[in-house]
Amino acid sequence: MFPAHRPRRLRTTPAMRRLVSETEVRPRQLVLPMFVKEGASSPVGIKSMPGVVQHTRDSLRAAAVEAVQAGVGGIMLFGVPAERDAVGSGATDPKGVLNAALADLRAELGDSTVLMADTCLDEFTDHGHCGLLAADGTVDNDATLEVYGEMAVAQAQAGAHVLGPSGMMDGQIGFIRAALDEAGFTDTGLLAYSAKYASALYGPFREAVESQLQGDRKTYQQDPANAREALREVQQDLAEGADMVMVKPALPYLDVLRAVAEISDVPVAAYQISGEYAMVEAAAANGWIERERTILETLTSIRRAGADIVLTYWAVEAAAWLDRG
Ligand code: PBG
Repeated sequence: MFPAHRPRRLRTTPAMRRLVSETEVRPRQLVLPMFVKEGASSPVGIKSMPGVVQHTRDSLRAAAVEAVQAGVGGIMLFGVPAERDAVGSGATDPKGVLNAALADLRAELGDSTVLMADTCLDEFTDHGHCGLLAADGTVDNDATLEVYGEMAVAQAQAGAHVLGPSGMMDGQIGFIRAALDEAGFTDTGLLAYSAKYASALYGPFREAVESQLQGDRKTYQQDPANAREALREVQQDLAEGADMVMVKPALPYLDVLRAVAEISDVPVAAYQISGEYAMVEAAAANGWIERERTILETLTSIRRAGADIVLTYWAVEAAAWLDRG
């Protein structure tokens, strides 16, 4: 008989396809990134990210409660300060917008979700780089670590369960771990942005945090051409005490994600970033792709490639679809 195998048998009915499906996306695996803007009196829409806003401290609280009720696994918080300076003072100030909003959310939500914070200076510096600048204008790795240590302790103090160091400074995981331990925050976890690429797809995020950056981050974030060095970054972060590791962006780097998932002995996250969101939203708004199907396909692909956890701006909406499914 020809053909000997008929793979189409397992695709004949919805029930059959449901039975043999290999990859699931569950609401608990999704983390919602959120933005809070200092001094805002009402939520401010982000043009390049339709449906995403810069929250006020009050609207953040309400939206976070809604996200937790929708079943998402966690929240990743970013702050948009009213003022910036060369050293990112707003990041280490307990009254700075990110730390204050973390405290709000921890008070509101307790341990009912995993509250995460972006541990990076780019939102807080007037030059927009992720670290301190040396006299020659380069980003000073080791001086930056000192500030990250302080920032991490402030975020842990404010109530973050997990910190997400995203600045791609060498040694940041070990340095932050030591700073947290020394301050008594031995239970505060680290989600290391281990393999973070210098991507064009961060564009909409720059609007979201009103980034002051001129130029690029190519001296600290990875070259999109390189996969091997992602493994080295991950191994280093694991050795330095990362509790989870991340690949970012997600969809253009599924090969890297798969490779990282194969060597990691801690949970692996992927960040479906602002530009990935914007591309789908823009095409869907034009009627060129089916929005819900596309979003679910991207999330499934990221999970299939090896992500245990997906950071996505669609977390709440997708959670509703997934619970229904
Ligand atoms: C750095 C940071 C960035 C993102 C998350 N953390 C921006 C950057 O590295 O330029 C991007 C997230 C997104 O694009 O959705 N604090």
